[in-house]
Amino acid sequence: MRKPIFLLVSAIVFLYFSVILFLLSPIHESGNVYYGNNYIGPLGLRLVPSVNWCKELHWRSPPLPYPVALVSYPGSGNTWLRYLLQQVTGVLTGSIYMDFGLKVHGFPAENVTDGSVLVVKTHEAPPLEPDKFKSAVLLIRNPRDAILADFNRLHKGHIGTAPKSAFKKRSRERKRTDWSAYVAIQLKTWETLHDLWLTKFPGTAYIVFYETLVKDTKNTLQGILNFLNYTFTENDMDCALTHKEGIYRRIKKLQDFDPFTQDMYRQIEIVKRRVINNIRKYRKMHNETDILELL
Ligand SMILES: *[C@@H]1O[C@H](CO)[C@@H](O)[C@H](O)[C@H]1NC(C)=O
Ligand SMILES: *[C@@H]1O[C@H](CO)[C@@H](O)[C@H](O)[C@H]1NC(C)=O
Ligand SMILES: *[C@@H]1O[C@H](CO)[C@@H](O)[C@H](O)[C@H]1NC(C)=O
Repeated sequence: MRKPIFLLVSAIVFLYFSVILFLLSPIHESGNVYYGNNYIGPLGLRLVPSVNWCKELHWRSPPLPYPVALVSYPGSGNTWLRYLLQQVTGVLTGSIYMDFGLKVHGFPAENVTDGSVLVVKTHEAPPLEPDKFKSAVLLIRNPRDAILADFNRLHKGHIGTAPKSAFKKRSRERKRTDWSAYVAIQLKTWETLHDLWLTKFPGTAYIVFYETLVKDTKNTLQGILNFLNYTFTENDMDCALTHKEGIYRRIKKLQDFDPFTQDMYRQIEIVKRRVINNIRKYRKMHNETDILELL
């Protein structure tokens, strides 16, 4: 009599923990990791967390003659913005990358780079072909948080946090940590990416700060959709805002230490100021109002 009950309880406990393990498993970016088996739960069930979309996702119709780029340094909220845009419009967003994790988790238009999608994600410099993109949304996050978020992603996937030890690991020369070398390189990358789009991109760039998107999601989204010439209703926006958390926001974990040193903060400040200056110049040149958010 006892045995079946014991088996039943074991099965329930096993299922329960499998689901928890799945929820904690990282969702990788960059397309260099394929981990299809991670999604197969016990009994061969596919455990894909479902996104509640406000409307069924579809292509942009009619398609634009050219695609609009969604440019950002990694870790700047690109996936979240794509998610929000898909919620308001129901139109798929594309990417120059093929991220299998994202493809099965709400972004079926990965690797689609034409005008049939609302925007096309890229972390690269503006393409040399002058008519690849004629306009771009430039999503900028302060470099400290973006670099940290991307470091976390490299270690733990889309929604995890890197362990403390990851910041302390020393490189072979033992002079500096891998983390400090990483910060120096990424800061340079952050600056170069934004400078190239601000100075070398022949089309129009619409600048969005991640920090503003978080603080004032509604107006920021409205601004982006106006730039994209996409009309939407109050209902569309309300529905998107009700679902604004999505499944991709990194779980906030209070870090009990600050991985950035005083010297890193000095470097970050210098680089940030140079990029902000370029944004100012860009906005002046394009007669945009110069309301600079604090990065
Ligand atoms: C991405 O799209 C291109 C062009 O449509 C195709 O040739 C390529 O195989 C696709 N890549 C992947 C990984 O599906
Ligand atoms: C929006 O429409 C205007 C006017 O037709 C056009 O100049 C602009 O390029 C369009 N913007 C985008 C992102 O397609
Ligand atoms: C910006 O405004 C000035 C003065 O109002 C005007 O001469 C100039 O053509 C405008 N530039 C652009 C890019 O709209």
